[in-house]
Amino acid sequence: MGRFPQRARAAGATSRRGAAAAALLCWACAAAYAEQPWLDARRSPDERAALAVAAMTLDEKIGLLHGPMALPYSRPNGEPVPVPAAAIPAAGYVPGVRRLGIPALFETDASVGVTNPNGIRPGDVATALPASLALSATFDPALSYRAGALVGGEAHAKGFNVLLGGGMNLTRDPRNGRNFEYLGEDPLLASRMAGAAVRGTQDQHVISTLKHFALNANETNRHTLDARIDRQALRESDLLAFELAIESGSPGSVMCSYNKVNGDYACGNGWLLNRVLKKDWRYAGWVMADWGATHGVADAAHGLDQESGDQLDDAVWFGAPLKAAVQAGSIRRARIDDMAHRILRSMFAVGLVEHPPVKTAIDYPAHAALALEIAQAGIVLLKNESELLPLKPHAPRIAVIGGNADSGVLSGGGSSQVTPSNGTPARIPIGGNGDGALVRTAWFDPSSPVKEIQAASPQSEVLYDAGAIPAAAAALAARSDVAIVFVTRHECEGFDSPDLTLPFGQDGLIEAVANANPHTVVVLETGNPVTMPWLDHVAAVLAAWYPGQEGGRAIADVLFGAVNPAGRLPITFPRHDSDLARPALPNLGRADGAAVSIDYTEGADVGYRRFARLGIAPLFAFGFGLSYTHFEYDNLTVTGGRTLSVSFDVRNTGARAGADVPQVYLTAAAGTPVFRLIGFERVMLEAGAVRRVTLEADPRLLAFYDERRGKWDAKRGIYRVGVGRSADDVSLRGEAGVSPRSPTGS
Ligand code: BGC
Repeated sequence: MGRFPQRARAAGATSRRGAAAAALLCWACAAAYAEQPWLDARRSPDERAALAVAAMTLDEKIGLLHGPMALPYSRPNGEPVPVPAAAIPAAGYVPGVRRLGIPALFETDASVGVTNPNGIRPGDVATALPASLALSATFDPALSYRAGALVGGEAHAKGFNVLLGGGMNLTRDPRNGRNFEYLGEDPLLASRMAGAAVRGTQDQHVISTLKHFALNANETNRHTLDARIDRQALRESDLLAFELAIESGSPGSVMCSYNKVNGDYACGNGWLLNRVLKKDWRYAGWVMADWGATHGVADAAHGLDQESGDQLDDAVWFGAPLKAAVQAGSIRRARIDDMAHRILRSMFAVGLVEHPPVKTAIDYPAHAALALEIAQAGIVLLKNESELLPLKPHAPRIAVIGGNADSGVLSGGGSSQVTPSNGTPARIPIGGNGDGALVRTAWFDPSSPVKEIQAASPQSEVLYDAGAIPAAAAALAARSDVAIVFVTRHECEGFDSPDLTLPFGQDGLIEAVANANPHTVVVLETGNPVTMPWLDHVAAVLAAWYPGQEGGRAIADVLFGAVNPAGRLPITFPRHDSDLARPALPNLGRADGAAVSIDYTEGADVGYRRFARLGIAPLFAFGFGLSYTHFEYDNLTVTGGRTLSVSFDVRNTGARAGADVPQVYLTAAAGTPVFRLIGFERVMLEAGAVRRVTLEADPRLLAFYDERRGKWDAKRGIYRVGVGRSADDVSLRGEAGVSPRSPTGS
């Protein structure tokens, strides 16, 4: 390590002395390159990886193919595994090859900020961004790029060079406990947001990891669950999301998931890893296992390149057993070379050698500003009767009720939990996964809505009631001018919620408050949709998701109009659990480790697509979100050809500036009724302003996947589209002829 030819080249000779120095340095570089040519950044990542692999011993290659969790954690047999001395305590560590200048991999979680699991690095904090679902609700890939860059930049400044984010599983079950870490239910939206975040992170010279590949749509029994689905349907939904994100982001790694897919564990699934990911999509990076998701040496033959958190597995499979398999000839040497090549190639492509992470001070206040911007942009205004919002400042008395709104805003739990940079979170024990058996600790990030509401309306008397006794909360509401009820539902890795209801009697609390005061506003802090039996009785509803460490401020900004809300739902909010593809949560209550399965019979019709096909009216549709202004669409032109290009005007017809997210849906493909998002754009418009938007569809969004022939297939014919505000409000319709040749991609 420690030779950085790049720097010498970049040094630029501006004086004769400088020129001489540069020449000397270049001479030193040339000498280094001759000795270790893989360090020459002028060569392609593949060339460099091939040269490095050729110089490595079998043991050195095997060393790159597995690593422990860099936390004090014992093996299943109880044998303790110390954190390697060279590691930074965190999610993972893979030693490098010192003699060849190959750096170690320092791996950290994840998508909403750099984590510090169990406070293993005392005092180390990070910017806690809003949940990925909130980010997705912005429908703004540029913001996602900045979020990815922020997390990547902080990771780099803490010494990490691999980020275990971003998560991007499609929401197939709105009770999945990790949906808050993902990007919603639509392949186009999720892929555009994920691809941008990957680019943002990797531009900071930190490898980004798309996860969890694939169909990790439920957490219940996640280690044994067999997720079953028709292959064509999978190609057109969850896999399409990954395919598009990988194309646009070129992530250095992809993490395979715990669950099985159609009978085989995802990390040992040859169809998924070898056929789809590596052959059809020509993915050049590496596949890392989720922590403890490697099941044996044979996984290497099925496409897994690296074992992670290896002390969690029954054996360190990709250590001595893999070496023995190579020596016995059951795993080919060429395969080991390929595994090492893929890892090295990503390291070179992302610049890990030339730009090693260096511990640096982080400008947390500047980063907090981005956390605030994302939270503001991702809040969705769901209801605003009689334009109660924005609230007039200086209402004499404002009641704030429930949700621990005096302490902060809820965040999601599990490996993505971030220790925020702006103060100590309130850690509050709450009832567990619905059966009352388990108590979890929910973290409330220190951005108190009560304080922020008071700051936004300094002359008001802001009174807080915890909401534990609905009658007491109602009494406060009755003597207040407006009542703002905060309701929460904690979601956490490892658990699904049993249903869509708000837990702990919060529905009753809202009813009691709404009965007492017609000016009741509900603020949801959830990582999923919830049902709203009280909806008709309240005046306004905001979905604030888990809004991150600046969330209280963002909520107050929307409530009082400093920010015009423009978030749109990245997931359908159903009316009832009975409207779901699986009305009862599959496998609820089955013991961990039970061999269970789920048939994802909705196939490619995830979320709004299934609702549209079956004609079920949602409570709030995918893409829905109100504003304090109004937008109109007209002058539609649809141009056909190899794909569809759709142009239209968006006009802000209201009295204030705001952002809109017009959405283009395909409604029929050569006579076949379909319903798919094929384009969207977040457009900021001053009052009265108009902008022409042109969106071109990726040809795969118009096509069907022909599994037998292994390619996308679209029929020649008339394709119909609608431009709308949400999946259930498509107002402007048009059509054009499409004569696809061979759509791109696999
Ligand atoms: C999670 C991953 C995470 C890993 C390392 C696993 O349990 O599923 O998303 O990156 O742990 O913390």
